[in-house]
Amino acid sequence: MKFNDADNTQEWAGCVALFSSQCTRIAARDVRGTLVAENRKKGKIDLMPIQRATAQALPNIALVKYWGNRDQALRLPSNPSLSMNMAGLTTTTTVEFDPALKQDVFLLGGREINGQGLERVSRFLNQVRLQTSEVSRLFARVDSRNNFPSGAGLASSASGFAALAVAASAAAGLQLSETELSRLARLGSGSACRSVPGGFVEWAVGDDDRSSYAYSIAPADHWDLRDVVALIDVEHKAVGSTEGHAVADTSPLQAARVATAPDRLAQARSAVLARDFASLADVVELDSLMMHAVMITSSPVLMYWQPATIAVMQAVRQWRLNGLAACTTIDAGPNVHVICTAEAADEVALRLRVIPGVRQVITARVGGPAHLIPNH
Ligand code: PMV
Repeated sequence: MKFNDADNTQEWAGCVALFSSQCTRIAARDVRGTLVAENRKKGKIDLMPIQRATAQALPNIALVKYWGNRDQALRLPSNPSLSMNMAGLTTTTTVEFDPALKQDVFLLGGREINGQGLERVSRFLNQVRLQTSEVSRLFARVDSRNNFPSGAGLASSASGFAALAVAASAAAGLQLSETELSRLARLGSGSACRSVPGGFVEWAVGDDDRSSYAYSIAPADHWDLRDVVALIDVEHKAVGSTEGHAVADTSPLQAARVATAPDRLAQARSAVLARDFASLADVVELDSLMMHAVMITSSPVLMYWQPATIAVMQAVRQWRLNGLAACTTIDAGPNVHVICTAEAADEVALRLRVIPGVRQVITARVGGPAHLIPNH
């Protein structure tokens, strides 16, 4: 039975009038066409269609790190940060608000996730449900897939919540600006707000929920930098960044790190805008080391490095002294991101591959913004 079956035309006409001609909603209508047929046989016609949208987002690598929150619940950061999106590593997420569901369902890489993972996604969906009566009482099915390992310092939560923000708000019929999407993504994972805009992205701390969001300072094609990632361990990390942020203030070094972050941000921003690699390399390495100094001196201690992590850091420092335009930065995991110029990228990848403990090398260019995928 088709969507415009004669018996249902009136009900559907009323229903469709509620919706705009957005492609995401056309997709929703098509999906519902099948369910209406089933419900009709059972004698119950539900006028609320499934509303569905799919979005894609990239992880980002911070050149100046975010670590610690002024407000844990709202994820208002203790310090400003700067990142670049990583092209080629994608999270693709489909959200369906479905009247037939009795609770939210979360699939990650095809596997159903329950417990804390599901709760975090549900809490995030509540933020969307709060914003519109259209889906306020509907549960959702979230199907998310990464083409890279989750939870090992490759910022899958950033691309994950950025894609979820874009897909869920579109499926709910909201038309949010980039700023609003960035704020929404921030509620799922702080760094996710930086995966909404494209290219080189700054997240100013802001004063409150409204003013804390990320924006692009230069598009992806501004500077052909590369992030050559040395994968050392792709297992899920023991302590995630949400717990990490919560203990940042237990380190006696955090106050000094936060107080000096605006200076590092200013240097990194100027270096990016001027395409000055030497200046960028200095501040990127210093900033990453300062964040890890805080982690290592927190209570409990957060030691993400493995022996190969240190081997890569030392090797890259030496290569730079010998003229190769490369520097390192490390997130909350053992993998090392080697930021380098396009000219240096092949040489960096070759050299990384032969360092003992490096399992795999992935190269990313600077990538664009999170976006909807029509007709998915
Ligand atoms: O957004 P979260 O909670 O996953 O925190 C990200 C923290 C770091 O990746 C370590 C640093 C950053 O700025 O991305």
